[in-house]
Amino acid sequence: MKILVAGGAGYVGSVLVPTLLEKGHTVTVLDRLFFGNTLVEAERASRGKLRVVRGDTRACPRELMQGIDAVIDVAGISNDPSCELEPELTRSVNLDGGKRLAELARACGVRRYVYSSSCSVYGHGESVGLTETSPRHPVSAYARSKVDLEDFLFDMGRRSKGDFEVVALRLATVFGLSPRMRFDLAVNVMTKNAYVNRRIMVDGGGRQWRPFVHVRDAADAFTMAASADAKVVAGEVFNVGAASNNVQILNLAFRVRDAIPGTEIVHAATDPDLRDYNVAFEKAERVLDYRTARTIDDGIVEVLGALKSGAVDPDERRWYTLRQYVFLRDAERAMQELALDGALLLSHAN
Ligand SMILES: NC(=O)c1ccc[n+]([C@@H]2O[C@H](COP(=O)([O-])OP(=O)(O)OC[C@H]3O[C@@H](n4cnc5c(N)ncnc54)[C@H](O)[C@@H]3O)[C@@H](O)[C@H]2O)c1
Repeated sequence: MKILVAGGAGYVGSVLVPTLLEKGHTVTVLDRLFFGNTLVEAERASRGKLRVVRGDTRACPRELMQGIDAVIDVAGISNDPSCELEPELTRSVNLDGGKRLAELARACGVRRYVYSSSCSVYGHGESVGLTETSPRHPVSAYARSKVDLEDFLFDMGRRSKGDFEVVALRLATVFGLSPRMRFDLAVNVMTKNAYVNRRIMVDGGGRQWRPFVHVRDAADAFTMAASADAKVVAGEVFNVGAASNNVQILNLAFRVRDAIPGTEIVHAATDPDLRDYNVAFEKAERVLDYRTARTIDDGIVEVLGALKSGAVDPDERRWYTLRQYVFLRDAERAMQELALDGALLLSHAN
């Protein structure tokens, strides 16, 4: 298949894209490259099967959609604090960008459209074992943007009378190594903090439930959703994760401490975390025969190993989503206020 991956250079995308290539697909990536181009090697090794285009979902060139069989949308501003930073930007990127990309895909005859939603749409869950039909209670601008785009896409799918097959994957919180690392996701950040500081901060009381999924298992779910029979996936939502990877945050801290002895667990003086959801994953197992292969403990060991070997730099600003967006916003402001003839500092040095 010919697949366009929007946001393909991000944390999930830069693991997903090589997975799609391994399966024999031809891939075009559309990404702003806010965290750098993590696919340079993959593009070089792909023998023309991967093309990375720096571009925006809000203005995707029509030419990129020609001949595409499936779009996977993993683009956008991807966590709560980054979405609070500039609410207008969040709406524009996460909602308008997602809508425009889908409308362009449909206009260009793309059949399959796979959207990266999130289990955070359940927000403050009313019970444990939340299923795809449980009520959504988004408690952040990020989660609201997911709910709104899900609704928009499924409405498009319904109106298309069968030729636009929308699938939404509600991902659990992802963990594990990726070429675009994220040290703002619970398993990764706790492991990093335990290794670097021998200290883990637990926010929001620690009793709140959260489901987790390894980034390679998440990539497998997208790969399946892109090519599965339309009869079983069109118009459907799937929670992506594993029941055994639902844990309370304090329990996660204990697991990390077990892996890195001598780690102190400290409770932050914060309000209770409103996000509290324990999720069921039976539908993807039953309908898609989807199974995750990696546990939370596997992820802790993997991230710890990469930190110990120096394979990943815990001080790299780009591995902290909010920090990178603050940096980009401030750089843009500095350019607007201080640039002379389009240059800020170094171009005038000679
Ligand atoms: N990582 C998780 O735990 C998790 C959990 C649930 C859902 N999700 C969703 O999965 C998707 C991928 O998450 P991620 O962890 O890879 O995030 P990420 O921030 O690492 O990747 C997002 C990518 O989108 C790109 N991007 C941002 N705005 C863009 C725009 N306007 N046009 C083109 N590209 C743009 C960025 O450059 C980045 O490469 C997101 O939609 C996220 O909300 C992630």
